[in-house]
Amino acid sequence: MKKIVLTSIVVLATSTALMAGVNPGACKGCHGHAWEKKALGRSAIVANMTHKEIARVLIAYKTTKETDEMVMKTQVARYSNDALKAFAQTIGK
Ligand code: HEC
Repeated sequence: MKKIVLTSIVVLATSTALMAGVNPGACKGCHGHAWEKKALGRSAIVANMTHKEIARVLIAYKTTKETDEMVMKTQVARYSNDALKAFAQTIGK
């Protein structure tokens, strides 16, 4: 437990520096306050995804051509891959 808390603090500190404004407030309308919702009735529940998986999909959305994924493309387009990776460490499991 202690280790988990410490890790979270380190991750938070690093991500705040790198994040350049990934603003989770903008996500929660669709994904829920605890990332517990299926966004627009069709996404996976992000709370159940691993950090690694989240990082991978967020970066992939930047270059997607899938119509269904355009909603997420517009959400992540402005962020660097590093910012998305760092942010992914703060959500999911
Ligand atoms: C307008 C509603 C909306 C907003 C705002 C939104 N999302 Fe999404 N999100 C979706 C939808 C819909 C999907 C599923 C898209 C698809 O078909 O791949 C999704 C998928 C995802 C996934 C992958 C889950 C899966 O299905 O594989 C992640 C992670 C995610 N969003 C994170 C975020 C983050 C982080 C933000 C804020 C920066 C955000 N979302 C903002 C609607 C939204």
